[in-house]
Amino acid sequence: MDKRLWTLREYPFHPEKLRYHETIFTVGNGYLGTRASFEEGYEGDTPATLVHGLYNHAPHTQVPELVNAPNWTEVQIKVDGTPFRLITRSSDLLNPPQGLILGYERALHLDEALLRRVVLFRAASGATVRIIFERFASLHDPHILAQRIHVTAIDGAPEIELEAVLDGQVSNNGVQHWATMAPSAQAEQFSLFGVTNQSGYKLTMASALLGPGTPVGQTQERRASSVVRIQLGRDDHAIFDKLTAVYTSRDCADPTVSAATKLAEARATGYDSLLAAHRQAWKHCWQAMDITIEGDDFAQLAVRFTTYHLLIAAPQHDEQVSIGAKTLSGLGYKGHVFWDTELFMLPPFTLTLPSIARNMLMYRYHRLEGARQKARENGYEGAMFPWESTDTGLETTPKWSDVLDKQGQPLRIWTGDNEQHISTDIAYAVLQYWRWTGDDAFMTQYGAEIVLDTAVFWGSRAQFIDGRYELHDQIGPDEYHENVKNSVFVNRMVVWHLQQALQLLTWLEQHAPQDAARLVQNLDLNAERLARWRDIIANMIIPFDEARQIHVQFDGFFDFEYIPVQHYEPRVGGLWGYLGHERALRSQVIKQADVVMLMALLGEELAPRQVLLNNWETYYPRCDHGSSLSPAMHAWVAARLGLRDEAYHMLRHALAIDLEDNKGNVADGIHGAACGGAWQAIVFGLCGLHLTSDGPALSPQLPPHWKRVGFKVVYQGQVYPFVAEA
Ligand code: BGC
Repeated sequence: MDKRLWTLREYPFHPEKLRYHETIFTVGNGYLGTRASFEEGYEGDTPATLVHGLYNHAPHTQVPELVNAPNWTEVQIKVDGTPFRLITRSSDLLNPPQGLILGYERALHLDEALLRRVVLFRAASGATVRIIFERFASLHDPHILAQRIHVTAIDGAPEIELEAVLDGQVSNNGVQHWATMAPSAQAEQFSLFGVTNQSGYKLTMASALLGPGTPVGQTQERRASSVVRIQLGRDDHAIFDKLTAVYTSRDCADPTVSAATKLAEARATGYDSLLAAHRQAWKHCWQAMDITIEGDDFAQLAVRFTTYHLLIAAPQHDEQVSIGAKTLSGLGYKGHVFWDTELFMLPPFTLTLPSIARNMLMYRYHRLEGARQKARENGYEGAMFPWESTDTGLETTPKWSDVLDKQGQPLRIWTGDNEQHISTDIAYAVLQYWRWTGDDAFMTQYGAEIVLDTAVFWGSRAQFIDGRYELHDQIGPDEYHENVKNSVFVNRMVVWHLQQALQLLTWLEQHAPQDAARLVQNLDLNAERLARWRDIIANMIIPFDEARQIHVQFDGFFDFEYIPVQHYEPRVGGLWGYLGHERALRSQVIKQADVVMLMALLGEELAPRQVLLNNWETYYPRCDHGSSLSPAMHAWVAARLGLRDEAYHMLRHALAIDLEDNKGNVADGIHGAACGGAWQAIVFGLCGLHLTSDGPALSPQLPPHWKRVGFKVVYQGQVYPFVAEA
């Protein structure tokens, strides 16, 4: 194994990239994610631990958010009384008041999901130590978090004081979600017990500091710790293990009892065996999901990085949670779940680790009541999923933005009202999962209800005008254009959705008549309703320009101002900030793949190849990729159209979004959709994976410098290893 292609490094320390590294070096296990803040802290750092499903709606805030849990990683070290800190100012070199960093390296080992930092530190006394910090969130047992601190005396014989801490003095950018946070500590064991102030979730973290010396427990307000002092001899070394167990009231009746039991179990197992089990669990995941790319080291490392971030956020054991837009790696988008999940992050799991995909689909199934409530409140029937979703399943998109308009007023956010395609995106993911897995039990018991009740919603939503069906006040994927009439993406996907719903019902009647009868009864799928679906399919307006042979993004799109996007390059981020909201609204600049997204989802089912090419030539130059969701979809579609240069260019862009921070906001968290999008762009796009009557097959369009791409997919329970060659 070439470790280089599995390792992300920071060397030397880059203080100006502190928050970037905190995000990209996040560790996690599908239960929680923890940003890579330093154990000892650093000015301006943003430590966060986000536990799936732990939402809270704090007083005086617009919407609920994922709660920042106590920081379990904190460790304070003193060497001969000098606090260990990453001080690098050159003025300190001559006269180190607080000790000095002589060497630094940090690496995230993607193969084993282990974060490791090595520092050489000279204390004010002159004694020098090497400190190695390791941490991982066990994938084998998601309630166990482990750290090892290895201190070696390089020069001198220093006294080492080490304090292992659980820090509950945390907030979400100043918003306090914890009503209480009670510390307790005794000798080597210490814990925190907190209750959120609105949702009432309880959380316990319990830790143990294991190693030489006689630890003493300490508590302060919202903080608990254990501190130990030892004397190191010359060339001597000491190993301290800090093991933490975490439970919430989402997992069990009494998180304090469960955490205590788990901590005892972890102590009995010991760090080395915990790490071995963790490695084994990762091996299994990588065997299923790794893509190997020969001929492009950047793409190889980058796709492992994006896949790693999908995996550390993926719920392996919980069907009540799903992955938010920024995964569990930052506070951006408040941990809310968008369409990013179903159309970008979920398909890679459907094809490789389908039980994870199933959990995420079940999250939606369990929230059908919320979707029905949203439909009712808006005067519709069936299930209308929220644009942004949390634990309740209700709409949680904020109505107002922090961004101000020209009059100094906050901008109204319309997506929660009008970005309604999410209901079809979820149905698409359900159908794709069914097609690839052949999981009829899931479909008959759960999936069908999602597909059919969202179809009921569209049946009530479509507007009958002059003998045709239209959809007004929609937001398609391109969010620069709000509340438009007849988005081709939305209208065409609704037609597709209703077609699928009718076919599914026929299938159910033949193969699962009892389930068919139950759903017909419960969802009131009467003849009149089904006749209307057929009528909508036949008569929905699909905006199309006959003369130019292109789809029209929405009614009136080409009446807007044309702005050549390529004139504004190079740039970081979208043109929206430059143009301003009002002008962007009335321009032909597109935020992200929209008609192109439709082409990715429907391929040649949408239109003959020439029309797809015409669409590409029209919309590609108008897109500013203001959203991280965009480049991967462009790469996928370009490859299917045989446009290899554009495909590689767009894939490179997608793969670099977080690694090279090309949106400039990686500090807020990983762009999960870009990660899932990159996986799909390679597999469906460049490798051309598609289903035939004989099962999955490839039709590759690899860039000339790629020699070989390897990956596996599972189709109807059978593993298909594939190799695509140039
Ligand atoms: C994009 C949406 C996306 C959201 C969350 C927005 O900027 O336009 O498509 O769902 O970010 O990632």
